Amino acid sequence: MLAPLVAKRTLTHDLFVLRLAAPTIASSVQPGQFVNILPRTGAIDPLLRRPFSVYQTGEGWIEVIIQIHGKGTEELSKALVGDSLDVIGPLGSPWKYNSGSFSTAILLVGGVGVASMPSLTQACESSNIPFETYYGARNERLFADEYLKRVHYATDDGSKGYRGSVIDLLRSDLRSVAYAHPKLFVCGPTPMMRAATTLAAEFDIPCEVSLETEMACGVGICQGCPVQTTAAELEKTGKKFHLVCTHGPSFEREQIVF
Ligand SMILES: Cc1cc2nc3c(=O)[nH]c(=O)nc-3n(C[C@H](O)[C@H](O)[C@H](O)COP(=O)(O)OP(=O)(O)OC[C@H]3O[C@@H](n4cnc5c(N)ncnc54)[C@H](O)[C@@H]3O)c2cc1C
Ligand code: FES
Repeated sequence: MLAPLVAKRTLTHDLFVLRLAAPTIASSVQPGQFVNILPRTGAIDPLLRRPFSVYQTGEGWIEVIIQIHGKGTEELSKALVGDSLDVIGPLGSPWKYNSGSFSTAILLVGGVGVASMPSLTQACESSNIPFETYYGARNERLFADEYLKRVHYATDDGSKGYRGSVIDLLRSDLRSVAYAHPKLFVCGPTPMMRAATTLAAEFDIPCEVSLETEMACGVGICQGCPVQTTAAELEKTGKKFHLVCTHGPSFEREQIVF
């Protein structure tokens, strides 16, 4: 569908927000789902769509946040209010926040992974699920926390919150704070997500990780986004690989090899 760009704003020095008029997506999207956007507005390059989490929704609109990475996101940075973008979605499966045996949701966030957290925050609030947010960045200028709540900050340079890694902060709190049956919901840079799964194994707590792998079709056709399953998952499902676009983007830590 063609979605008119109705607003554009800067969030931090490396993130900007596009608000798109997309009533069908806005009314059906669930926490953790994403949209696939064709970055070009006329030319043939880039040929493929790019995936972006739905950051926020409102009456008839959705927002995505974008970090410039390469050609596609560079093109999107040039889009002007009034332009129409070719968007498909909502895609992927939602965060599994309303299933499983946990009592406290711990949202663990880094970098542009923050995009999938406002919807999860709102879902926890409306489902009365106690939650805490752990947010790490190199320095305080990189935090995009406008829609987050109950945030524990960690910065590499100590400019806000705990000085050091957000994983270390969370490890320390898991030892000292009596969170009732916590489950980690993680989205961030790959090393952080890997460390989070190790931390979850250390404390023997459930952990769901939303992957931001490269994609093409976004709907399970091109087979371009496989992730290897664990031996247990292979035995359970008979599948050596899951597709991030349709099976994910979020997976329980026991399902795939990180
Ligand atoms: C489910 C999902 C949700 C996402 N949500 C967001 C979001 O909300 N905001 C946001 O800014 N980004 C998000 N991303 C990542 C975003 O899709 C990529 O940054 C984007 O596709 C890069 O496109 P590009 O054309 O700018 O870069 P390209 O020109 O395609 O790539 C530039 C370089 O980066 C590498 N690369 C491309 N994509 C990725 C990637 N995903 N991870 C690691 N390396 C990559 C390429 O191999 C190449 O070396 C999400 C990804 C997924 C799968
Ligand atoms: S992106 Fe095509 S199958 Fe996943």
